[in-house]
Amino acid sequence: MSYILGIETSCDETAASVTENGRTVLSNVVYSQIPLHTLYGGVVPEIASRKHIDKIIYVIDSALKEAAITAQELDAVAVTYNPGLVGALLVGVSVAKAYAYAIDKPLVPVNHIQGHIAANYIAYPNLEPPFVSLVASGGHSHILHIKDYRSFDVLGATTDDAAGEAFDKAARVLGLGYPGGPKLNKLAESGNPQAIKFPRPHKGYDFSFSGLKTAVINYVHTAQQKGEKINSADVAASFQQAVCDVLVNNTVSAAKKHGVDKIAIAGGVAANSLLRSQMESEATANGLEFYCPPINLCTDNAAMISCAGYFNYLAGIRGELDLNAVPQLSIGDVL
Ligand code: KG4
Ligand code: ZN
Repeated sequence: MSYILGIETSCDETAASVTENGRTVLSNVVYSQIPLHTLYGGVVPEIASRKHIDKIIYVIDSALKEAAITAQELDAVAVTYNPGLVGALLVGVSVAKAYAYAIDKPLVPVNHIQGHIAANYIAYPNLEPPFVSLVASGGHSHILHIKDYRSFDVLGATTDDAAGEAFDKAARVLGLGYPGGPKLNKLAESGNPQAIKFPRPHKGYDFSFSGLKTAVINYVHTAQQKGEKINSADVAASFQQAVCDVLVNNTVSAAKKHGVDKIAIAGGVAANSLLRSQMESEATANGLEFYCPPINLCTDNAAMISCAGYFNYLAGIRGELDLNAVPQLSIGDVL
């Protein structure tokens, strides 16, 4: 049995989890800072770092207690060290280093994107690579060929805004507030996805959401300038349909081209109801198996970090006491 403590503080969730053999979640504690950042319409990095400091020890203690595991029974401490907000990452990295040193157990660095993918291993204990995964979050959007637990090829990526960022900005212009993704998703349920023809820019398996975001902003501002009333639900539904069309078509085409018969989705945007249903029906129509984690494992959490940490731990990946937080994405780093 391997018990891994996972720690995640890359953005606005302070999270800790204990998993058993990387597949069974014994505890998954998430302290969400969302209500705090809502006041400002987005994540304020300095506030996020300070709140992580306030909560991290409490969250770790709760995760161990809920899992009924003592610190001495842990086999390793896994922590998100990239990518993310540097000050926020530093809190998790510093605490993980101190914790691992104090209990004299290995420290295992984890890439946050690798963590998102690993949420699928928890949701589907029999899932094994190879498969193609869409990872769409607030900061990054990628289509990846998962060749092995720690071996990934990038097949496609956003050339500008991440999918979640586009959702958040479209939601803001519609006056929905932060966090925009889930609110826009809800509003879109009562709208007509065919009402407005928004662009669907992509090239090969790469895609771009900056133009789509601008099209939504222009649509709303033009109507405001003319004093015309817009149907917000139609705008939300049409925007969401455009994002999902691009993500689904590119992911399914990439899987077929690479001869892979399984598709997974991951990251905060994988919580989107249209993305989940459209990806499932397109995958099925193309004879591909479809995998998607439950919503609480799509958005940031530490169970996914603990699971990815388990595979890194087995592979002998270790962090030393000079491990640093790295804000930029580098999919190849510890993968
Ligand atoms: O993975 P995540 O929790 O944090 C990052 O690593 O960025 O993703 C957060 C992003 C935000 O942009 C949020 O608006 C988006 O995921 N999101 C959604 C939904 N739930 C969260 N976007 C669309 N529909 C949703 N239901
Ligand atoms: Zn994330």
